[in-house]
Amino acid sequence: MTHSPTIQSFKQFRDVVYSFRLSRIIFTALDLDLFNQMGNRAWTIAQLSKRVQTSQRGLEILCRSLASAGLMGKTTAGFRVSRFAKTYLQKNSKEFRGDYLTLMHRQWEEWSRLTEVVTSGIPVDHEEPETPEYRRSFTWAMHHRSLEPAKQVAQQISLKSARSFLDLGGGPGTYALAFLQKNPHLQASVMDRPAALEVAGILAKELSMESRLSLHSGNFIENKIPEKYDIVWYSNVLHIYSPSENRKIFKKIKQALNPGGRLLIQDTFLQDPQGLRPLETNLFAVTMLLYTETGNTYSLQDVRAWLHKAGLNRTRIRRMKQGTGDWDGQILEARKPSAS
Ligand SMILES: C[S@@+](CC[C@H](N)C(=O)[O-])C[C@H]1O[C@@H](n2cnc3c(N)ncnc32)[C@H](O)[C@@H]1O
Repeated sequence: MTHSPTIQSFKQFRDVVYSFRLSRIIFTALDLDLFNQMGNRAWTIAQLSKRVQTSQRGLEILCRSLASAGLMGKTTAGFRVSRFAKTYLQKNSKEFRGDYLTLMHRQWEEWSRLTEVVTSGIPVDHEEPETPEYRRSFTWAMHHRSLEPAKQVAQQISLKSARSFLDLGGGPGTYALAFLQKNPHLQASVMDRPAALEVAGILAKELSMESRLSLHSGNFIENKIPEKYDIVWYSNVLHIYSPSENRKIFKKIKQALNPGGRLLIQDTFLQDPQGLRPLETNLFAVTMLLYTETGNTYSLQDVRAWLHKAGLNRTRIRRMKQGTGDWDGQILEARKPSAS
């Protein structure tokens, strides 16, 4: 997450503007497939430049920056990838975050079109129909992004009294699977698009959870949410839709909850009445402007009001331990009233 200070001096301004440099350096390393090409050994610049077909001067300057940033080490034998890069940036690692790297890399180009998108109000991929390949890759990226926070959240939210759980727009089902692992009495479902559910199916199989995780293929804007649940988990979906769309979704969720059931919303929320804090939440609204027709980020206060209007009350904020969970570690909870 971005914790930039508010800009009050020209130096701060300059530092913020130039923070693109390291991102660009990393994307060039990815373009050159540098981390994979380097494997596990040390390379002199002369050797490595032959291998990746670059100028020696260009590569030496690039590698020095990558080493300064901790993605490589430098010894008398030459440059080698750091432990971090070996773990997350090399294809042969179990922890390789390949689809997440692809997503970030693509965003470099797409963010360059921001002026055009602000001017037109139309997202970048507006004319391209979504392909299953794109959805699969995006879903793997979501899994890479959620692996650690999902485990942390499942540890801290008690689902002792719940038996059924829906991960709505759950993508890879990383959260559903983490809650299933923590709660042996729980059955879960993921509702999402078919290509996303393919990924959820693979992950469920890897964890031998197929019998406890059902996959519901469908569009929850157009279709009814199937079955009834004690918990609906709505993570990183709120920001894809407009206030009125979210209000309609909350009504559907209410229908899908058992009496006394809970909706848990994980997202990035604006915290102040003017909608200026935190910066990260506003930067993420720009991501939604680039990629969605109606998405945005919202204040806790507004979302609570929509929940109450939909008949979901007793709202409260569940705070995760500092540094754990997604975003700032705030989860908004609301209840469907128990039958009287
Ligand atoms: C940003 S991802 C979040 C995935 C997961 N919930 C998480 O927190 O990591 C949003 C997910 O919502 C799904 N989604 C959005 N709108 C949907 C709709 N109308 N019907 C079904 N799935 C939808 C997308 O396909 C995607 O998998």
